[in-house]
Amino acid sequence: MEKLEPIYEGKAKKLFETDDPDILLLEYKNTLTAFNALKKTTMEGKGALNNKISSYILQYLASRGVPNHFVKMVDEVRQLVRKVEIIPLEVVVRNITTGSICKRLGVPEGINLNPPLVEFYLKNDELGDPIVTEDQAISFGWASEEEIQKIKNMALQVNQLLKDLFKPLGITLVDFKLEFGKTKDGEIILADEISPDTCRFWDSSSGDRLDKDRFRKDLGNVLEAYQEIWRRLSAKGEE
Ligand code: TMP
Ligand code: ASP
Repeated sequence: MEKLEPIYEGKAKKLFETDDPDILLLEYKNTLTAFNALKKTTMEGKGALNNKISSYILQYLASRGVPNHFVKMVDEVRQLVRKVEIIPLEVVVRNITTGSICKRLGVPEGINLNPPLVEFYLKNDELGDPIVTEDQAISFGWASEEEIQKIKNMALQVNQLLKDLFKPLGITLVDFKLEFGKTKDGEIILADEISPDTCRFWDSSSGDRLDKDRFRKDLGNVLEAYQEIWRRLSAKGEE
């Protein structure tokens, strides 16, 4: 079905064309990177876990009215997705302060943000994905004013739905990153992945980190944390 050469290869995924011009094949790699790939490793089984976790979450979101690129899982590490033109912004939603915001603003870790904070970063590895204002995104044409508003609303809707999903599983959704794309009809839909690579999950009782921060901070048991997320999600049943 797919052509052999990827049309895109990122740090954690590869994209292939299919016979259908509107559909791409997304393959999850076992590579784990942090700090713009300054730190890098390979972890057998990580790709399959992210494929399963992301498929589950994107299906959950679609069934609750958040249009996204997920079509179906093909095998352990691959899924079919709708082809979109990716908007060059990384959209971060924060419920609790940690990570880059603490460094940037000198604020302590663990402050509850109510309402949640939505931030935009320019997708540009050479520049280290700098934070940008909404006005900059509009002025430079990365997204229109209407698109920014739509993306913000969708990001906050995803945040609420993900909190509803994870809270009963004993998982606190601290923050996460989303990407959006435009279909050929100009519709904005959620794209990319939602996984422990792109979210911060804390165990609600112990505070244990169950995400890529285990790798970023050398906490050990990285794969086990991803497995734990999948164990709790899959125990919940089909979405
Ligand atoms: P940050 O605190 O490092 O800005 O990260 C905020 C959230 O975004 C966190 O859940 C991790 C996620 N993230 C990505 O998915 N990709 C990235 O390149 C970065 C920097 C963060
Ligand atoms: N995703 C980025 C990288 O792969 C940064 C991060 O997630 O910490 O380097």
